Amino acid sequence: MSTKLAVLKDGKTNETRAAASPETVKKLVSLGCSVTIEADAGKKAGFTNKEYEEAGAVVAKTAAFLKESDIVLSVNAPAPIRLKSFKKGATLIAMLNPYDNQKALDSYAKAGIETMSMELMPRITRAQSMDVLSSQSNLAGYKAVLDATAEFGRALPMMMTAAGTIAPAKVFVMGAGVAGLQAIATAKRLGAVVSATDVRAAAGEQVESLGASFVMVEADEGESGETEGGYAKEMSEDYQKRQAELVAQHIAKQDIVICTALIPGRPAPELVSKEMVTRMAPGSVIVDLAVERGGNCPLSKLGKTVIANGVKIIGYDNVPGRLPANATELYARNLYNFVEAFFDREAKKAVFDRNDEIIQGVQLTYKGAIVHSGFVQAKTSSKKPAAKKPTAKKPAAKKPAAKKPVAKKPAKRKAAASKTGSKG
Ligand code: NAI
Repeated sequence: MSTKLAVLKDGKTNETRAAASPETVKKLVSLGCSVTIEADAGKKAGFTNKEYEEAGAVVAKTAAFLKESDIVLSVNAPAPIRLKSFKKGATLIAMLNPYDNQKALDSYAKAGIETMSMELMPRITRAQSMDVLSSQSNLAGYKAVLDATAEFGRALPMMMTAAGTIAPAKVFVMGAGVAGLQAIATAKRLGAVVSATDVRAAAGEQVESLGASFVMVEADEGESGETEGGYAKEMSEDYQKRQAELVAQHIAKQDIVICTALIPGRPAPELVSKEMVTRMAPGSVIVDLAVERGGNCPLSKLGKTVIANGVKIIGYDNVPGRLPANATELYARNLYNFVEAFFDREAKKAVFDRNDEIIQGVQLTYKGAIVHSGFVQAKTSSKKPAAKKPTAKKPAAKKPAAKKPVAKKPAKRKAAASKTGSKG
């Protein structure tokens, strides 16, 4: 008997993405799954029920199919009430936002659902094609620059016209991870003068390879600014002070600031203070991609554009969802690649091996219990979940830039836009 796989229509108001595309439905069917998709699941992303049907899915108007489903794909965590309709032992694969969802974690365990939280995907070579944070952040970085230009009352490239010369806009990207690197590449393509900062010294080389200048303060003695997993660390007070001084000087001269700095499992670091905003010229624009985790600027508001001292601060919610077709295509492929990697074609069913490092990285609940090491601890502690992001491939170590705050010159190399999507 084939595996019954369900695709939910996401219930979150501002969600535009779907967990399957017609392309991945076709692939799931040829893998050996019988696929049922909730009616209109792909509507906001531009995929019709007919397209899903043609790809081999059954389009369901009622939720009765859930009781039968072995695997359930979703974008976000389903509403708690929906868990009652799940079959006991079913596997839910979604972006479950576990850092903020302790109550939900308990409810999955209680409902006897196996849950896989795709944001926790280990950053190992084998799992790159399943990395939802990378696929979605890449789009967010691109869209953030377009959102900024839409609000900016000037052009980005230098223009020499008979009526005079237009100076190129200055764009500063804070955080040079996946989103930041794509923002740099996009702003460069539009002709802006781009600079970027990060606490990870290793990011400098990537920033420079895209033709932007790297601005950073030297890390504390013996610190590289990153964890073994390649993610940023929360820096010392002294570091934060020195970073703030450098950023304050630099930011006053920028037209557009794209904030992308995040620390897994922690609130986003505050990098652009209210005082720094007052130093920016009216008409400047800040896009705070970190707003869903508290923001890099204390003035940004989730889902709103705030104007402070003439500076527009954009805090769009769900930025990848502002490119719903691409975001769906990529997210759906991430999910397909995950299911496919653990699918036994002969038995026509997925076997999520609990000894596999990928499953250990993403599995939150299993057989009625919370099993993820980070979140088991969180249950017995009053502290916020300190779940570690699973081990990632470490980017090549690079020496910190210099003793004092410095703004490095852009490298002469050509922008390697292909680098921005993922990292090996
Ligand atoms: P993220 O979304 O957690 O954070 C965004 C960026 O903000 C990071 O570059 C981080 O270093 C930076 N940041 C944090 N605190 C900061 C502060 N106070 N000031 C300035 N910058 C700050 O990170 P993301 O984009 O998920 O990538 C993290 C790393 O993982 C990067 O090295 C990336 O290249 C790597 N990566 C590896 C993959 C793989 O091996 N499969 C896949 C994707 C990314």
